[in-house]
Amino acid sequence: MGLLVGERVERVESLDPVGDRLSGAVRKVLRPQWLRDVLHGVPLGHALHPVLVQLPVGAWISAAILDALPGGTKAATTLIAVGTASAVPAAVAGANDWASLGPEQRRVGLVHAAANTVALALFGGSLVARARGRSTAGKALSYTALAVAGGSAYLGGHLSYAQGAGMNQAVPALRLIPDGWHDLGATAEFTDGFTSVRHIGEVPVLVYREDDRFSVLLERCAHQSGPLGEGKVEDGCVVCPWHGSTFRLRDGSVKHGPASSNQPTLRTHVTPGGRLEAALP
Ligand code: FES
Repeated sequence: MGLLVGERVERVESLDPVGDRLSGAVRKVLRPQWLRDVLHGVPLGHALHPVLVQLPVGAWISAAILDALPGGTKAATTLIAVGTASAVPAAVAGANDWASLGPEQRRVGLVHAAANTVALALFGGSLVARARGRSTAGKALSYTALAVAGGSAYLGGHLSYAQGAGMNQAVPALRLIPDGWHDLGATAEFTDGFTSVRHIGEVPVLVYREDDRFSVLLERCAHQSGPLGEGKVEDGCVVCPWHGSTFRLRDGSVKHGPASSNQPTLRTHVTPGGRLEAALP
């Protein structure tokens, strides 16, 4: 089988200069950390963008059905207006996530956003046509817009499910850790207030000591698998060196995005012989 459309888009490197400029602009506009965190979905525990998308998609599809039914045009027009207005916060949340993606994901995200912009313009045109009493043109424009939005949704799906954007990238590594307790070394090897990297089989884990309390987190960042072992430790948190996701070392909970879900942790215990062991939660 040849390459899928999404896979082809991933390889279009000529999109990168535009992507670089736009992602810089997004970061400049969405500067407050609290706003970025809310838009990433940190308070929610997973990405916000797919949640916000439900309203415009639902409204537009419902409008398309009503437009095909006798007497449904007025209600369809209201739904198109609601869908178009509600697409704006969904787009802002998506742009915020997009600005911290890797190059291949960003290319797909850029085409996804461009297609959505075209769809929004067509829905806007449909609303104008309907307001002027040209309902046939209005319907043609909104059906075309829905088709464009459908193509764009395919790319959004590719970005999420084939390229893993918005997924917790650390979770799959949990499945590589066998059941049972795993030795990580003598407790004396771990310095208070610092992190160290150990391995359970091939899975790197991050060990943090705070007095006599030990935490063990998976070492590859939940956002895009960045090396938390190379991250700064600040106020009991580790800051990912790639895009700045910040996780509390005590329990792996996410403090700041772009990661929106927690960093997985392992259970720990110290043997009577003074060795630190970890096991699956
Ligand atoms: S990989 Fe992006 S913040 Fe860690």
